Amino acid sequence: MLKKIDRIRLELANEVLNSSASREDYRVRYLGSKGLLKELYQEFKSVASEEKREIGLALNQLKQAIEERLETAGTNDEAPKQQKEINDVTRPASTETVGTLHPLHLITQEIISIFERIGFTQSEGPEIEDDWHNFSALNFPADHPARDMQDTFFLDTPFNQFSLRTHTSSVQVRVMESSTMPVRTISAGRVYRNEAISARAHCFFHQIEGLYIDEEVTMADLKQTLDYFAKALFGPEVHIRLRPSYFPFTEPSAEVDVSCSLCQGSGCNVCKYTGWLEILGCGMVDPNVLSSCGIDAKKYTGFAFGMGVERIAQLKYRVNDLRLYSENDLRFLQQFHL
Ligand code: PHE
Repeated sequence: MLKKIDRIRLELANEVLNSSASREDYRVRYLGSKGLLKELYQEFKSVASEEKREIGLALNQLKQAIEERLETAGTNDEAPKQQKEINDVTRPASTETVGTLHPLHLITQEIISIFERIGFTQSEGPEIEDDWHNFSALNFPADHPARDMQDTFFLDTPFNQFSLRTHTSSVQVRVMESSTMPVRTISAGRVYRNEAISARAHCFFHQIEGLYIDEEVTMADLKQTLDYFAKALFGPEVHIRLRPSYFPFTEPSAEVDVSCSLCQGSGCNVCKYTGWLEILGCGMVDPNVLSSCGIDAKKYTGFAFGMGVERIAQLKYRVNDLRLYSENDLRFLQQFHL
């Protein structure tokens, strides 16, 4: 019987106990009511009394070894270990990281909803544009600097036919060509300029452009629309002023300033002590542009305006480095919530 006990002890080491099923099988075979140990204790009863001491000891040791094998198998393998961790009720709860919307997206949505409230639709156009939509239809003279490689990313195609759009005004052209009058639409999107990247300039940025064409649209309509917009975005206490400017596609043209909402116009370092912050360019659509797009310039007039989304975000969020918007630094992005 001693030999038998020894053999069983040696066999124990070969038992594979890596799942709850194999452990249960082991338990039944060795420790169950019809298991090996039970059988051995049965056999032990008929052992001669002078051998009882020695064999009894070996049998008890075997029992211990069988039980130990089962206990340690549990702690050595993966599944029960995980089980233990999950059951640790004192462990701090794991935190889920919830993403945030990009600040430029938030501002864009806010601006779009302001114009939607007064009946503007949304329109889109391609980022790769042909010369006609980005320049020619918009009255850009042949020698305009924007047509230069220094300022515009041209695609490697014959005659510099295609470029990355330099402004969303190209969408205006597409809308004017394909719509029946009147039109009242805004278009938001990414634009590209061949600039060295710094805190104040980037090779791409975002614009929102507005266009309204109908009979008898005047500069007064433009001014009122922009006044409504500025108050909706920056607060009811701000006002705007228009300064004469020049764009090839509008005549007359103006640049628009909004009174500094930080110092209420009295002068601070954000408005560089002028009391005003420049926010956009605008003007009455040049009759040449209307004609180029197949619109009767004697019957219809219109206004257009365009603004840089980063510029507006800079004023609203006080972000002074343009590069932050495209670096994907979570410490920056997580500061913006709806
Ligand atoms: N497209 C002009 C720009 O990129 C902005 C603008 C749009 C000005 C519409 C006037 C009218 O600077």
